[in-house]
Amino acid sequence: MNVQQLEETAQALVAEDKGLLAMDESNPTCNKRFAQLGIPQTVEARRAYRELIVTTPRLGECIGGAILYDETIRQQKSDGTPFIKVLIEAGIIPGIKVDQGAKSLAGFPGEKVTEGLDGLRDRLAEYSRLGARFAKWRAVITISEGVPSRGCIAANAQALARYAALCQQAGLVPVVEPEVLMDGDHTLDRCFEVTEEVLREVFFQLYSQRVALEGMILKPNMVVLGLSCLHQESVDEVADATVKCLLRTVPAAVPAIAFLSGGQSAELASARLNAMNLRFTSRLPWALAFSFARAIQQPALELWKGHEANVPAAKQALFHRARCNQAARRGEYSAAMETR
Ligand code: 13P
Repeated sequence: MNVQQLEETAQALVAEDKGLLAMDESNPTCNKRFAQLGIPQTVEARRAYRELIVTTPRLGECIGGAILYDETIRQQKSDGTPFIKVLIEAGIIPGIKVDQGAKSLAGFPGEKVTEGLDGLRDRLAEYSRLGARFAKWRAVITISEGVPSRGCIAANAQALARYAALCQQAGLVPVVEPEVLMDGDHTLDRCFEVTEEVLREVFFQLYSQRVALEGMILKPNMVVLGLSCLHQESVDEVADATVKCLLRTVPAAVPAIAFLSGGQSAELASARLNAMNLRFTSRLPWALAFSFARAIQQPALELWKGHEANVPAAKQALFHRARCNQAARRGEYSAAMETR
């Protein structure tokens, strides 16, 4: 295992205050988002949408890496240029989602475990040949009455660590994503408590599986109130709780933390990331970056609606969100950026 090379890739992904663009929605998830906007759920529509994303001008100024999906990594622009080549030429490192989804955890009603370890070594070798230099695996943890259980947290953390070890052996930087879901009416304290427990277990398992922390990226949730709570916490409350939780649990050897957006609005995700960087940068051992899917893509998708004529406006919206999040890494984002 070449740790130095992994370390260099991890650093490059977040260099110059860039972040990651998650464009790795599985076909069912992508189809669901298309259906909500009346976009046809076809291979060609998904390809056209991903072409829109990878050909967005200047995207490489703000995005250091793009996470693709098995279908997408094999696709091309309409002129035949592979997406991988387009990304590399734009200065964006290609990555790949390698988990095979969260499935019901036997014996634990309402809880899930992410599958995909079987055959992973061979799939990683293939993705590496195709040009991927990093990979992603997402575990989902639900909060509700008596949930999450220790068994669910341990099973997911161990799978994340086994995946991360296999990635590093294949020369790919693992993006380790333990997502505590926002669904529910839980308090901020409860989200803090669960996120802390999950991250402690994840880093224990990463250590047990001999994962080099210098050559990975953590992709956690922010510490937020449950989605169905009636009041909303302030931006600073989220920033304070999230940073406090991460300082307690994430070793300083990890080069970067790149948040998922998890269903927050695009503006809130930027504002919260900004507040963390603005208030705490001098105290943080790791870069605080982003690896958003919805919080970068959603406004663009809503403008595109599957129509060729809307492509330029959608590209502009995508670049705008990427730029806002780069500004948030610098603590330079403000609501004024939204009134273009
Ligand atoms: P969201 O930013 O939409 O939560 O997606 C991030 C992601 O990659 C989920 O696995």
